[in-house]
Amino acid sequence: MAAGVPRPAGPFVPEGTVRVFDTTLRDGEQAPGAGLTAAEKLEVARQLARLHVDVIEAGFPAASPGDFEAVRRIAQETKGGIAVAALARCRDGDPQRAIEAIKVAEKPHLHVFIATSDIHLKHKLRMSRDEALAEAVRWVRHGRKALGRDAEIEFSAEDASRTDVDYLMQVYEAVVEAGASTINIPDTVGYAIPSEFGKLVERAVGLVGGQATISVHCHNDLGLATANTLAAVQAGARQVEVTINGLGERAGNASLEEVVMALRTRPTQFPGGGSQVQTEQLTAASRLVSYLTGFAVQPNKAIVGGNAFAHESGIHQDGVIKNPLTYEIMTPQSVGLTGSQLTIGKLSGRRGLQQKLRQLGHEVEGEGLDELYRAAVALADAKKEVTDADLHALVEQRVAEVPQAVRLEGWNVTSSHGGKATGMVSLAIGDEERAEAAIGNGPVDALFAAVDQAVEPVFAWHPVLESYEIKAVSGGEDAQGRVLVRCRRSSDVGPGALVVSGHGLSTNIIEASLEAYLTAVNKLHGAEIGPASPAFVGQRTAELP
Ligand code: KIV
Ligand code: ZN
Repeated sequence: MAAGVPRPAGPFVPEGTVRVFDTTLRDGEQAPGAGLTAAEKLEVARQLARLHVDVIEAGFPAASPGDFEAVRRIAQETKGGIAVAALARCRDGDPQRAIEAIKVAEKPHLHVFIATSDIHLKHKLRMSRDEALAEAVRWVRHGRKALGRDAEIEFSAEDASRTDVDYLMQVYEAVVEAGASTINIPDTVGYAIPSEFGKLVERAVGLVGGQATISVHCHNDLGLATANTLAAVQAGARQVEVTINGLGERAGNASLEEVVMALRTRPTQFPGGGSQVQTEQLTAASRLVSYLTGFAVQPNKAIVGGNAFAHESGIHQDGVIKNPLTYEIMTPQSVGLTGSQLTIGKLSGRRGLQQKLRQLGHEVEGEGLDELYRAAVALADAKKEVTDADLHALVEQRVAEVPQAVRLEGWNVTSSHGGKATGMVSLAIGDEERAEAAIGNGPVDALFAAVDQAVEPVFAWHPVLESYEIKAVSGGEDAQGRVLVRCRRSSDVGPGALVVSGHGLSTNIIEASLEAYLTAVNKLHGAEIGPASPAFVGQRTAELP
């Protein structure tokens, strides 16, 4: 250890447990089109805290002022022994920004990385092996000096699974000597297979496992991310880097819910694989992330897919009625599914609603509860039955609220069989009232065109619709419709263009569509006016590692 560099107090993972490091807000957010606003990132972080992960990787502060601010706010707010991590390249400027963002955290966790495979060194970094090693040591040492002995300093060798193993071990030994307390082994391109990956982990555990926590970070390009992660735990890894719904670059990362439920369901296969994750919060976490990113969860997705606990065939149904253990290896309740329906009407109380929301994994009180109560009662007036899905949707809609520079004052549309539609909108933009009419192929198209006309003269851009989806929140003729749009600014073109999502929820799909479109407009406007705005969008994915 160099003079003046403190020795780490760790390894920090208690005996018999695995540390769950969630990177939904960093690697997950790097999935193209999954960008979140700072306020949305904060909401996800709150849910991750309820889930009780051990580490929240909140972002990549050097990527943009918006991401810096989001990480700083999450670091400030997150308590209860949960660490907040920030990512940094081993390059002047990055670690300093990351340290600045997380130094206020109860448990700061700096995560520095550099690529070590020859293919990355030659074609991406244009560095020799020795130069990369020197940079790794330099920035680990910098982090340890800046944050002291109690902080977690993690080093990742990007593309470790395609790196020459002897060189990789040399790097790991050197960074541990420089003060790293966690050594991460990323399977960056999802190339590894479980038996092979287990052996690599074993070698690292044998070399530096006594001085540092061995971590793994698996991508899913061959659909093996969960399997590789579990093989690593069997080989002695004590930190797993995962994301909600397996969100992440390309085919995504190892999914938190799969890894955690495998550890919990098969404890004898994973001695030392205990975790303190509150699995009853998994469904709420999955829904929230899916909602805010606009990435749907496939129905047959393990643990959190819509069909994960559904039994269709008669033989299976009969078995489950006689004893759920016949076809269920874990209970729906253990992942936060209640399966029940709530009947709510004018006479239902706030406390009953609060209790029900708690069962569904949402902690709501005070003004938020009053607001939701009013919305639920109004919904009960509009449709026969308010279901669990309706309640999840109402909570999520509230979570995603965006400051409204543009407000809808009114709309009108005429449409007939075989003809064009005419739409009229009236908007308040700041202090200005603007009403416009336009023609379109259908009612939604006409109304969106009218919004474009109203917005353009004020902002010097109009929203450009990239995608539009509509989905019924629950069954029945009176179901609420949820609309998801993705939009960019007409003035922002090219591969790095900022694309934001907007949601709308209503029993009237035209109303839901307009709400979604205007949410996207408000987010785009927030992003334009800068990081001071709570609606500022975190990052442009094009420039991330
Ligand atoms: O996939 C990867 O290699 C990463 C590192 C930055 C840990 O995300
Ligand atoms: Zn990754």
